[in-house]
Amino acid sequence: MTEPPEPNAIDARVFPPGAHREDGELVLGGVRATALTERYGSPLYVVDEEAARARAREIREAFEAEAARIGTDVAVYYASKAFLCVEVARWMADEGLAIDVASGGELAVALAAGVDPARIGFHGNNKSVAEIERAVAAGVGTIVIDSEIETERIARAARAAGRRQRVRLRVNSGVHASTHDFLATAHEDQKFGQPLSEAPRLVRAILAHDSLDFVGLHCHIGSQIFAADGFRESARRLLAAYGELAAIASRPIPELNLGGGFGIAYTSAEADEAPAPADLARQLADIVAATARELGIPIPKLAFEPGRAVIGQAGVTLYTVGTTKRVDLAGTGASSADLGFSERLYVSVDGGMSDNARPALYGSDYQARIANRVSEAGPALVRVVGKHCEAGDIVVLRDVLPGDVHPGDLLAVAATGAYCWSLASNYNYVPRPPVIAVRAGASRTIVRGETEDDLLARSVMDAGAGETTRTLSNDPRENGRENGETK
Ligand code: LLP
Repeated sequence: MTEPPEPNAIDARVFPPGAHREDGELVLGGVRATALTERYGSPLYVVDEEAARARAREIREAFEAEAARIGTDVAVYYASKAFLCVEVARWMADEGLAIDVASGGELAVALAAGVDPARIGFHGNNKSVAEIERAVAAGVGTIVIDSEIETERIARAARAAGRRQRVRLRVNSGVHASTHDFLATAHEDQKFGQPLSEAPRLVRAILAHDSLDFVGLHCHIGSQIFAADGFRESARRLLAAYGELAAIASRPIPELNLGGGFGIAYTSAEADEAPAPADLARQLADIVAATARELGIPIPKLAFEPGRAVIGQAGVTLYTVGTTKRVDLAGTGASSADLGFSERLYVSVDGGMSDNARPALYGSDYQARIANRVSEAGPALVRVVGKHCEAGDIVVLRDVLPGDVHPGDLLAVAATGAYCWSLASNYNYVPRPPVIAVRAGASRTIVRGETEDDLLARSVMDAGAGETTRTLSNDPRENGRENGETK
């Protein structure tokens, strides 16, 4: 930041498109923020349904148009780890997206939402045998094999279910991308996927099973990616292996999944740099088409798995300010000289790292705005902090708000739709807030908030009374387990 932005402005590139002020108050999906907190309490996760649906549609249509242009087809999966509940799964399915799940729990939610199992992809570096069996039995469209032993596990489950299971193999392309940077080497030192060099051997093993239908390679190169370079390199490396794999399979490899990771803007400073879906889709389609042409192989059907880019900007968190304090920055070593402020205003809200762990986990920053009024007060450098017993409990590291922000004000933090609710915790026994969907002037609860009773419900009140501890035998059969793998 060089110049403080207008501290009352609602930036529609960070807040959901259509968010605006009426009589000074923030309006989301046609509903005033104050009406939401009066009805549902504070803090609140708010999701603008139309914004989420429109973005899902925009991304799907952009990729479909570009795939058609290069003479192929594409499946756009919603990476549900970003934010999943039954209602959101329905929105995504309605908008024509397939759903990517990464655990038995996410699978259960997608199935409960009525998502067609054939439109579900299942990931994970350590799926349990029970999860695999459930996914196969449910008729999940594709399972991504992440390790060698999974080939056997999935093949066995498919055989037992009398199914032929479509599978992809997750490889490490050796590319790791983040925002503008990508590193084209040495990122195999992480838990996901198999080295690309191992693909021929692993694909041979997959092809040896009649119960498996190998459809192609999968990779995911990182998160919050703004530039297409990393995808270009990754697509080039994966497709380069397709010739050899086709020879092994005696048929072309029909599909290529390049994962997700498309970046979004969290602050106005980033807003012009986040890629537009149409641009990204065009660049990725061009990369795949050119590489396939160069290598003389057919253009595979494509798959992508965006999560954040679909739901991130549709979400806003509303908090109530509880306390404030001013800190004189002189002599603290704080590096705020670029903003020219001599003090920092700490603004404490009624949530924090339990509803948004991203600043603490990744050093992410956000934009905050006073939601219940506009103010002509001069700008103040603020840090929005939570109510948890942790100095790193920060919601917004550095923003500029009207200097009269005070207890009782409502604060809206933008772009909290992805990886906030899904990473939420009960730290300090703070109940997780509800999720409220807004659309066309109406609001409804799509995830119930927790109560103190919910929090207490898991503490066993009479621990020890009535429950006896059984000493396990050394023979696993006596403990109700089969020999071999346990579920
Ligand atoms: N596909 C795979 C295999 C993934 O592992 C992920 C994200 C995605 C797709 C979706 O990525 P997206 O388009 O949402 O960036 N908690 C972190 C992000 C973790 C991403 C994990 N995998 C954060 O809040 O930034």
